Amino acid sequence: MRRLLAMIALVACQRGSDEPKPAAKAAPTPVAPQANQPPPPPPKAPYRTAASTYDVDTTVTASAPHDMVSSESVQATQVGKDMLAAGGNAVDAAVATAFALAVAHPTAGNLGGGGFAVVRVGKDKAEALDFRETAPAAASPDMYKDAPKDSLVGYRAAGVPASVAGLYALHKKYGKKPWKDVVAPAIALAKGFAVDKQLARQIQGRSEALRLYPETAAIWLPGGAPRKEGDVVAIPDLAATLQRIADKGADGFYKGETAKLIADAEKAHGGLITLADLAGYKPIWRAPLKFDYRGYHVLGMPLPSSGGFVIELTANIFRNLELGKLPWHGTEHVHNLVEVWRRAFAARNELLGDPAYVKDIPLEKLMSQTYADQLASTIADKASPSKDVPALLEGVHTTNLCAVDKDGMAVAMTTTINTTFGSGVTIAGFIMNNEMDDFATKPGSPNVYGLVQGEANKIEPGKRMLSSMSPTIVLDADGNVAMLAGAGGGPRIITAVWQVISNVIDFKMTAAQADAAPRLHHQHLPEHVEFEADSIDEATETALKGRGYDVQWGSGPRSFFGAVTTIVRAGDHWEGSSDRRGGGAAMGN
Ligand code: DON
Repeated sequence: MRRLLAMIALVACQRGSDEPKPAAKAAPTPVAPQANQPPPPPPKAPYRTAASTYDVDTTVTASAPHDMVSSESVQATQVGKDMLAAGGNAVDAAVATAFALAVAHPTAGNLGGGGFAVVRVGKDKAEALDFRETAPAAASPDMYKDAPKDSLVGYRAAGVPASVAGLYALHKKYGKKPWKDVVAPAIALAKGFAVDKQLARQIQGRSEALRLYPETAAIWLPGGAPRKEGDVVAIPDLAATLQRIADKGADGFYKGETAKLIADAEKAHGGLITLADLAGYKPIWRAPLKFDYRGYHVLGMPLPSSGGFVIELTANIFRNLELGKLPWHGTEHVHNLVEVWRRAFAARNELLGDPAYVKDIPLEKLMSQTYADQLASTIADKASPSKDVPALLEGVHTTNLCAVDKDGMAVAMTTTINTTFGSGVTIAGFIMNNEMDDFATKPGSPNVYGLVQGEANKIEPGKRMLSSMSPTIVLDADGNVAMLAGAGGGPRIITAVWQVISNVIDFKMTAAQADAAPRLHHQHLPEHVEFEADSIDEATETALKGRGYDVQWGSGPRSFFGAVTTIVRAGDHWEGSSDRRGGGAAMGN
């Protein structure tokens, strides 16, 4: 790291062999300078776009003067945009969009899962909402010992669903429009919505798993054939479930008919969730993590999500480096990203868990500049093997939406049922999560994302499983909203959100460029570093290998890391983007 500081000056005036090669396709044209930033230099082919590598190229960007919504479904974004146009605020738009995602983007949008939201309520007021699922009361640390697949597939894989309680709490505290109006567009969609390209691909890709449960197969594989793009799907059970939510609020889900349907189905199939688990579920309002980066104030998600933690630690280490002076995705940039993440994820994986259960998390130390500096001082010129990087202290599916309104109220919300179509189980028209796999179901062994986690995240009744979801809001020096971001993609969420924020702040990219730029990922274990197609050039790859990195290329159209939705303030208007890796759109008024 010390050598790096000395090198920055050199590299800055010598943009050479590490420089990513000229764009094969023109990069998106910058629309306007970012708030409080000098106008970007004319695009100098900052990265090679690789749209041809992806079978879905549906980045839809938007620019609008007053407000903006971005989500992974065009139909859901439209719901949010209409809510804003009808006088709703950012919370109304976010909640309406989230319910619409539960219908039109059912691989991740949900009633049967959970999530996190960071809300900027107004100048000097921000809150974070934890609506993470909990382990049922009957769960135990070794419940998957003899049947490891049960944490991913089927009735036993689900934590207590949390989304409806979360959306209800968020709306109750900060919404403006009547609750019924906010749920109504999702009910209309459940009576008939069009399958989009991304969903059609995901149904096809997961068809074997969807076939396992008749209620699920009947919706997504009627007569055995996967739904296709453009098919209009009606899910009457889901419309009825949503109607009960519209009529009775959270009680319409956690008590009465829906609760009984869930508890009965769980009991009949060896699941653990009971009426008492449902009636007892409570979302928690928390203080967002707050830290500064290059003059911006960042609001991140605190535990039990590790997203804000890793992003803050990354910012704390990079605070002393002028990242923007390094060639983007050149050897020094990549080397430092990977070594910083290796150290931050080591701490995440070993030390973090639900703070209500893990009492000795040394958070203050972990978030201190002294700790970040200590980590930085261990970064050498070569790759450090992960086995030599301890925490240094004793001790494919999720979806994000962003909404901002004309008064600067802003919501970044990430919600999930964990993997694509969650546990595969459908109850009352909606898919149940398989979030139990986010616990360290066998501490020391990798989970579905390859994360090797410790005792702090072991299963305990009522506990919230550690998450990587990272809804983030960035404020400018005056406290105005400068940027919102969040992503799906397991641990790749954290590194994707960091890269998009750093692309905007350090490398002066527009929202669309920052979102579309190829990414890389590292999470301490496994040892290797994953690169998206075209994220680095050949010279950089060779140089990284020379420093000891195990470079792994994602191959094929599914080799993307996280689908980000973002909104950036650009001068006098908002720029929104929904990642080409997913689908959806940004729209504003
Ligand atoms: O909370 C978490 O970290 C995971 N359940 C997120 C899963 C995810 O992002 C899958 N997405 N593609």
